[in-house]
Amino acid sequence: MTAISLTRLVDTWIDGFATSRSVPVRRRDGVTEVEVGGTERRLELVLVEPDTHLLRETLGRLVGTSDVWSTIFTREAAAHVELPAGVRVVLAEEVLMTVDLVDLVTVGLPSAAAPPSWELDLTASGERVAVRLLDGDRVAARGQLGLVGTDAIFDRIGTEPDYRRRGLATVVMDALAAWAVSRGARRGILAASVEGQALYRRLGWAPVARMLTVAGAGE
Ligand SMILES: CC(C)(COP(=O)(O)OP(=O)(O)OC[C@H]1O[C@@H](n2cnc3c(N)ncnc32)[C@H](O)[C@@H]1OP(=O)(O)O)[C@@H](O)C(=O)NCCC(=O)NCCS
Repeated sequence: MTAISLTRLVDTWIDGFATSRSVPVRRRDGVTEVEVGGTERRLELVLVEPDTHLLRETLGRLVGTSDVWSTIFTREAAAHVELPAGVRVVLAEEVLMTVDLVDLVTVGLPSAAAPPSWELDLTASGERVAVRLLDGDRVAARGQLGLVGTDAIFDRIGTEPDYRRRGLATVVMDALAAWAVSRGARRGILAASVEGQALYRRLGWAPVARMLTVAGAGE
């Protein structure tokens, strides 16, 4: 993948993330700023294969804060980043992954059926959809996505700890993929945690870039 296409892919991922979560995005001087709005992570500064100057300048913005984070995407080895004092590593093992959704939905491998008495609740609104798998009143698993053209950006996939390894996230992923393909999506994109990578690989997804997430270490 060339640097330009990685930039484009990450841009699409950010746009889908913003659609999924209804948060604002600003792009300026090689940095994409996402107003995540969380208490832990208020602002995220996204960089794709930055040069030393841009990297240093951007990481300098984190110093003295704790809720400003930065994620750096690289194609090959994990980004070798000299962190300034006052900046800490938050996540070093996440990867960006993609899949051909049409293949996934038509071949349907490997799949799982929702437990018969459980309810699959799907709420679509514009370019966004959220799926919940309900065991009575309990949300056992969930996920959501935002559409950007023919790309579907999967987000917030999760199964409650006591429901894991029973195929529930697979059901959620299937439901999201089917909805996305019915709306014309062809490719899936997501940022995967370590646990998520095991699930997504099993479902046919492949890593395309590494991610390093750092944050300000506070006052
Ligand atoms: C990742 C997560 C969503 C998986 O949910 P789940 O409902 O347990 O997943 P499934 O039961 O559908 O897993 C299907 C297959 O994926 C693989 N898999 C899933 N979780 C795995 C894990 N922790 N370790 C190894 N393989 C795993 C296995 O091959 C599994 O099949 P098996 O149980 O027959 O071996 C869940 O562990 C979770 O919520 N983790 C915390 C939040 C998180 O990291 N979410 C992903 C964000 S990108």
